[in-house]
Amino acid sequence: MALIENPLFAKFFARYGARNEARGNARLRAELLAGLSGRVVEVGAGTGLNFPHYPPAVAELVAVEPEPTLRAKAAEAATGAPAPIRLVDGVADGLPAEDGSADAVVVSGVLCSVADPAAALAEFRRVLRPGGELRFYEHVRARGAVWARFQDFSDLLWPRLMGGCHPNRDTLSAIRRAGFEIVRCRELIFPPTARISVVAPRVHGVAVVSSPSSVR
Ligand SMILES: C[S@@+](CC[C@H](N)C(=O)[O-])C[C@H]1O[C@@H](n2cnc3c(N)ncnc32)[C@H](O)[C@@H]1O
Repeated sequence: MALIENPLFAKFFARYGARNEARGNARLRAELLAGLSGRVVEVGAGTGLNFPHYPPAVAELVAVEPEPTLRAKAAEAATGAPAPIRLVDGVADGLPAEDGSADAVVVSGVLCSVADPAAALAEFRRVLRPGGELRFYEHVRARGAVWARFQDFSDLLWPRLMGGCHPNRDTLSAIRRAGFEIVRCRELIFPPTARISVVAPRVHGVAVVSSPSSVR
C-alpha cells in the first residue's frame, strides 16, 4: 500500500502543476539545481518537474515520491532526463537512504506539505554527508502581517484542498532550528505580479549542516 494517497490533489497537480514553468518557474528550478553532482536525493518529486534541470554531473538521483499517481507521472518524466533517476516510494521522515550517503537533498514545494517538518529536516540531516547541501525552493509565511494573516485564514481550508499544503509555515526558521546554516537564500514573490496569493512568498536557497553545537 502507498504511504500517501491523495488522488484528487494528484490529478489536479498533474494537470496544472506545470502552468508556471514557462513564467519563470523552470528558470528557478534550474538555478536551484545548478552545480549539483554525485548522489542526490529529491524528496517529494511530484510529477518530476525538476528532473530536466539536474546537471549531468549528478551520478544518481534518488527521487522519492509517496503519492502513486504523481509517481507514475514522475516515471514518465524520468525517461530522457540528463541524470540517471531511481524513483522510489517513500516519505520525507523515513528516507530510503543510508546515513551520510547523499551529497545533496532537494525539496521544492514539499516542506509546506509534510506532516512534521522538524522530523523531515532531521531525516535530511541524517542522509546528508558532512558538508552536503540542502537545496530548497519553498513557499512560506509572508513577512507582511496582513498577508500572513490571510495565509493563516486560508490554512483553515487550503490543506484539505491542496494535498495537506500549509501556506503559512515559517520554513526558513524550521531549517535553522533543525541544525542547518543557511548559506544562500533569496526571498521572492512568485509569480512576480502576485499581490496576495497564499503561495506567492517564497524562499530559494542552500543550507548546510552546521556544527552540532549550533543546533538550537
Ligand atoms: C506541491 S507538490 C511539489 C512537487 C515537486 N516537488 C515540484 O516541485 O513540482 C508536493 C509534493 O510533496 C509530496 N509529499 C507530501 N507529503 C510528503 C511526505 N510526507 N514525504 C514526501 N513527499 C511528500 C507530494 O506527494 C507532492 O509530490
